[in-house]
Amino acid sequence: MTSKIKKRLFGFGLYSVACLSLFAQKGGGTATPVYLDENKAIEQRVEDALSRMTLEEKVAMVHAQSNFSSAGCPRLGIPELWMSDGPHGVRAEVLWGNFDWANWTTDSCTAFPALTCLAASFNPDMAYAYGEAIGAEARYRKKDVLLAPGVNIYRSPLNGRNFEYMGEDPYLASRLAVPYIQGVQTNGVAACVKHYALNNQEQWRGSINVVVDDRALHEIYLPAFKASVLEGGTWALMGSYNKYKGQHCCHNDFMLNKILKQDWGFDGAVVSDWSGTHSTDEAATNGLDVEMGTWTDGLKLLGRPFTYNDYFLANPYLKGLKEGKYEVKDLDDKVRRMLRLCFRTNMDRHRPYGSFATPEHADIARKIGEEGIVLLKNDKGFFPIAPGRYSKILVVGENAVRSLTVGGGSSELKVKREISPLQGLKEKYGDDRISYTMGYTSDPSKYNVDSLKQQAIAMAKDAEVVLFIGGLNKDAHQDCEGEDRQIFELPYEQGTLISQLVAYNKNTGVIIISGNGVSMPWLKSVPALMQSWYLGSEAGYATANVVSGEVNPSGKMPFSIPVKLEDNAAHHFGTKAFPGDGTDVVYEEGILVGYRWHDTKKIPALFPFGYGMSYTTFSYGKMATNKKEYGKEDTIELSFTLANDGKCAGAETAQIYVSQSNPLLERPVKELKAFKKVFLDAGERKVVSLSIPVKELAYYDDKKQDWVVDSDQFTLHCGASSTDIKSSVSIQVQ
Ligand code: GLC
Repeated sequence: MTSKIKKRLFGFGLYSVACLSLFAQKGGGTATPVYLDENKAIEQRVEDALSRMTLEEKVAMVHAQSNFSSAGCPRLGIPELWMSDGPHGVRAEVLWGNFDWANWTTDSCTAFPALTCLAASFNPDMAYAYGEAIGAEARYRKKDVLLAPGVNIYRSPLNGRNFEYMGEDPYLASRLAVPYIQGVQTNGVAACVKHYALNNQEQWRGSINVVVDDRALHEIYLPAFKASVLEGGTWALMGSYNKYKGQHCCHNDFMLNKILKQDWGFDGAVVSDWSGTHSTDEAATNGLDVEMGTWTDGLKLLGRPFTYNDYFLANPYLKGLKEGKYEVKDLDDKVRRMLRLCFRTNMDRHRPYGSFATPEHADIARKIGEEGIVLLKNDKGFFPIAPGRYSKILVVGENAVRSLTVGGGSSELKVKREISPLQGLKEKYGDDRISYTMGYTSDPSKYNVDSLKQQAIAMAKDAEVVLFIGGLNKDAHQDCEGEDRQIFELPYEQGTLISQLVAYNKNTGVIIISGNGVSMPWLKSVPALMQSWYLGSEAGYATANVVSGEVNPSGKMPFSIPVKLEDNAAHHFGTKAFPGDGTDVVYEEGILVGYRWHDTKKIPALFPFGYGMSYTTFSYGKMATNKKEYGKEDTIELSFTLANDGKCAGAETAQIYVSQSNPLLERPVKELKAFKKVFLDAGERKVVSLSIPVKELAYYDDKKQDWVVDSDQFTLHCGASSTDIKSSVSIQVQ
């Protein structure tokens, strides 16, 4: 080929490349628009998509189009966003416009244990596994946002929704919420941490104004949300129903614009709770990004049908924008966050496909259950009940057979299976060795209460061992959304029955299934007690494995159980402090929540925070720190040996609490600042190392409106619970 021809060909080649790229840049041909280009950064895609949207398309994206979805942008091919409850499993599919089940045949899920159980496991690895599995189920069910986890602090044992949350300590809740969120989001599904914030009761939840001092707000009620944002990287967050500083938290300038978005730099989307939006003016400017569920509680606007176009952030908002009453820049911020949520989820072509109701998820559910059950009392080696030890085992109690995955409100589930405690025990010990009677009922209209009791007593007399399985359930005024408990005692006269059973058969153990503490006037008379939880699909197998000793219990209490209700901080101050007067509820106890109260006020709990026994025994060596004096930017390195002195493998959660010697402001006697769950074979010993950044010794100074670490002496306490301190070391912070 002559050089002349080569030159011509080369020239033509350059020319055609130039034409093609010019053609592409004009977007006239097959070139991919920026917002659809996977290779472009999300922020570029967000800005490009936003620039292409009309005002109407933008407004459509910031309110619901159905009960659990918000609009995408059909013209641009941006999909609608689908959300689903809940913290313990993916809720059954509901109809377009309400909460009625759609009666699909393909939405029976894995029910994982309630989050109180996860909290009791004190195991962040389990929290990650939990999140990854539940996120995979949400992904498989084509949900882009999982409305979970719940991290509200357990302030009162009467709060109907404590079973959905992770106990009374902000550090524990933070350490478990972060990996849960990370696990969920590895599936390309957004977590939506809730309910931000101060939703610590159900009574008057839609309107009650919480009055709480700044220190308690920052030291107790915000940390788990802050960790979820700063460490968990949660892509969404749900506002709570209640008010704070007189404004509903779903559109609260201080909580959403100042703290969440400005101070913490949250770049995700703020989702309202369902019916949590009450004003276009406030929703337009106070940090709400998408309005969900308005009036889905059956109310109708002025008696006429209420449509999604009537939403506060729908036509009324659009009208105000057009009239210049609301600024487009505020709308654009909402839409950016919703678009970012889409690009992180349903517009990410590379996200996994998920999986649903798998044997692996069932295993994870069972393991979390096994690790969360708390052995609270075990005299005379009552537990474990090794197979073959008894031939006549009597199981008593409605909770041994009752489904505890249904009900309870929005966390309700339609499950692929739910192994009851009774079924688990029968499979473990053999049908012929297990007999059952209900003993008590939650529905006295169906049963003769007295004959149930007499039957149980009669059978107890000639049983070798009795296992009472009771507690609370998901009925109204039990562990249930929308209603708080009205009594601290066990309902349905279970307490009387327990006392009578043990009177006729001393060898009676009790398993309480609940999400809240209960009073236990019968405790002295029973040799053994377990605090169990709503364990979900594998409840029976987890229960039987722990009862039989196949699994050594390792749970620790995520909340204190007071002897009587008045010993609890929130109930010490009368009804103004719980549940309030219908307008305000005043958190009189301030930062002294849970063990902080019991320790500081020297009111011993019946069972303290962090307490839990094992079938083996552990011994702690003396704790040592790497230095005696620390600067404020240092990290405290501490270590101690932990030994399993017993005959079976087990796990112990060692806890580190910190006290300040001369605080300038009141501080609790001690605060949890580190913990580690250590698995040890019989006879094994390990050196346990933990670290605590000195800055985590800070308290919130409400005058300075900032966190402060005083130069002072601090004491580190290493303990098996908040009251069982094994060794202490004092250090100096300069
Ligand atoms: C409920 C709950 C919230 C739930 C939402 C959707 O009222 O407060 O936790 O995610 O509405 O069901």
